[in-house]
Amino acid sequence: VNLILLGPPGAGKGTQARMLEERFGLVQLSTGDLLRGAVAAGTEAGKAAKAVMEAGELVSDEIVLAVLKDRLDAPDVAAGTILDGFPRTAAQAEALDALLAERGQTIDAAISLEVEDEAMIARVSGRYTCAACGEGYHDQFKQPKVAGVCDKCGGTEMKRRPDDNAETVRTRLEAYHAQTAPLIDYYRARGALTEVPAMGDIDQIAARLAAIVGTHT
Ligand code: AP5
Ligand code: ZN
Repeated sequence: VNLILLGPPGAGKGTQARMLEERFGLVQLSTGDLLRGAVAAGTEAGKAAKAVMEAGELVSDEIVLAVLKDRLDAPDVAAGTILDGFPRTAAQAEALDALLAERGQTIDAAISLEVEDEAMIARVSGRYTCAACGEGYHDQFKQPKVAGVCDKCGGTEMKRRPDDNAETVRTRLEAYHAQTAPLIDYYRARGALTEVPAMGDIDQIAARLAAIVGTHT
C-alpha cells in the first residue's frame, strides 16, 4: 500500500507517520527528512536546498524528486509507504503517479489532516527531536517521561530545526496554502481522499488514522 499524509507544517504528519510505521509495518518516507539528510551530508542537492528550507519556501521539484527516487528504490520500501510531506505541488503529484505506475503500484489513500493555522505556529515553535533516533517531542504537548531523556532510545541530545521559528512557520503555511492545499481536490476528484480532524489529542488522532489505514492493509 501507498498512503499520503497531507497537511500544513505542524499538522502532525511526522508524529502520526511514525506511529503508523510501527503499527502497520509501513515505511515512512519524509522528503523533509531526506532533504535534511542531504543538507547534513553536504551533497549537491543538500547545498541547493539549505537556504530555501531555512527561508520556509519549497525546494524545487527536480531536487525533491531526485532524493525521493533514490529512497523509493531501497529494498525495505517494498512493504508499503507512508508519504509524509510529499507530494507538495501538482507537478510532484503527477510525477509520483508516474513513478508508482512504473512499479505497478498506485496511491491507495491520501489522508488530509485538518487543523487550524494559528495552532500550528505553537506546535512547530515548541518542537524538538531526539538527535539519536528522531523521536519527536514538544515543550508543552509531548514531553519525554524524564526531562531531556528520549523515551524511545535513552538518548540525551535533543535538537531543534532552524526553520522552526514563528516567522518561518508563517512562510511555510503560505507555501502550503498556495502550492500544496490544491492537492486535496486532486485526490478528492479521483476518490482517494479522506479528511481527518487533527486538532485533538495525539492518541485520538492516531486511532482515527489506524481505522482508515486498517482498511487498506
Ligand atoms: P517538512 O520536514 O516536510 O516539514 P513540514 O511539512 O513543514 O512539516 P513539519 O515536519 O513541520 O510538521 P509535521 O506535520 O510533520 O508535524 P509534527 O508531527 O512534527 O519540510 C521542511 C522543508 O523541507 C519545507 O519547508 C521545504 O523547504 C522542504 N520540503 C520538504 N518536502 C518538500 C517537497 N515535497 N517539496 C518541496 N520542498 C519540500 O508535529 C509538530 C509538533 O507538534 C511536534 O512537536 C509534535 O510533538 C506536536 N504535535 C503533533 N501532533 C499534535 C497534536 N495532536 N496536539 C498537540 N501537539 C502535537
Ligand atoms: Zn531517541
